[in-house]
Amino acid sequence: MANYALANAARLIRESRRTIAFTGAGISVESGVPPFRGPGGLWSRYDPAKFEMGAFRRNPAESWVLIKKLFYDEIGKAKPNKAHLALAGLEERGFLQAVITQNIDGLHQKAGSGTVYEYHGTTSSMQCMKCRRHFPTESIGLEKLPPLCPVCGGVLKPDIVFFSEPIPEEVHRQATLEARQCDVCLVVGTTGEVMPACRIPYVAKNSGATIIEINIDESAYTYHTSDYFLQGKAGLLLPELAEQVGTG
Ligand code: APR
Repeated sequence: MANYALANAARLIRESRRTIAFTGAGISVESGVPPFRGPGGLWSRYDPAKFEMGAFRRNPAESWVLIKKLFYDEIGKAKPNKAHLALAGLEERGFLQAVITQNIDGLHQKAGSGTVYEYHGTTSSMQCMKCRRHFPTESIGLEKLPPLCPVCGGVLKPDIVFFSEPIPEEVHRQATLEARQCDVCLVVGTTGEVMPACRIPYVAKNSGATIIEINIDESAYTYHTSDYFLQGKAGLLLPELAEQVGTG
């Protein structure tokens, strides 16, 4: 890894008034959570159309079989990796103010990050499609699918944002505000292909922030948005970056 880019990036974070991180599936790959795109990606094995809001309404039982397999069984056992822990450490030492994540795996919070905006929602709770009540996932059994509301018997939907579903208004507002106010934005493990989430780094850039990208491969940001492109695994580079921020 060319150290001058890492050292420069670390200096920028150390001197930054407000740093945020925008993360995607790539930051959880080293926790065993498969990405959506690229080799072995989920969308090369499963049909994303099953995660459309319309498909879910038409046949919740069929959608739930896939949702459980992809987002509960596989992800449920995942643990935060060194990349998540490095971001939590930067926050703890005052060098990172917020994480905006596209991930629904809850691994940033499990790693200790306090300010996390879940742009695509979360698997940690569900909502009844009939009475609109919310329930923590651990209080709902998934033996029978679709899971039904314990109060009114309606179908429960996980609080993840389905394709063609709007982003939760408050999260969208807060995340956009963070992007506008930061002067450094880390962009970690994302192809940058999914709207409107992918606009967050552009909003930061247009507000004058420096973009530091960490990815094993090029992304939609690499050649015209990222000011620094640290190529490599997040689980290796983020701890190294966090270390250099601290040692000064
Ligand atoms: N370290 C860093 N980056 C990695 C690693 C790693 N160990 N492994 C993979 N990557 C990178 C890939 O190069 C790719 O750029 O992570 C990215 C994964 O891309 P996607 O699977 O497209 O994930 P993401 O960009 O988060 O997808 C956005 O698409 O389907 C929707 O809602 C879903 O939130 C998701 C959104």
